Amino acid sequence: MFPLDEIEPGTARKVDVGGVQVAVVRIDDDVYAIGDTCSHAEVSLSGGEVWCEERELECPKHGSTFSLTTGEPATLPATRPVPVYGAVVVDGQVHITIDTDTSDAQEVAS
Ligand code: FES
Repeated sequence: MFPLDEIEPGTARKVDVGGVQVAVVRIDDDVYAIGDTCSHAEVSLSGGEVWCEERELECPKHGSTFSLTTGEPATLPATRPVPVYGAVVVDGQVHITIDTDTSDAQEVAS
């Protein structure tokens, strides 16, 4: 949990939520949370550009863009989605929810 004011509109910030690296994106007063690690290589997505109209985050390495609502890549070279997490603003504070069942499944898969 952290103040919404810590993220400029139209930018992303990397947040550690219980050991899970999350890219938190702010567009106007809406927040989105997706896995911070690109599904193509070990690159932090929060260092990339936010595409506000498309609601996508661009990987800074090879330029794949990921949907902030589904985690699916919209452009190559990435072909696999990144996880999507819950993100809400309550009283000016950003709350991120990690689904532990999903986290467990990812650990088994890796
Ligand atoms: S590392 Fe992200 S698209 Fe290649």
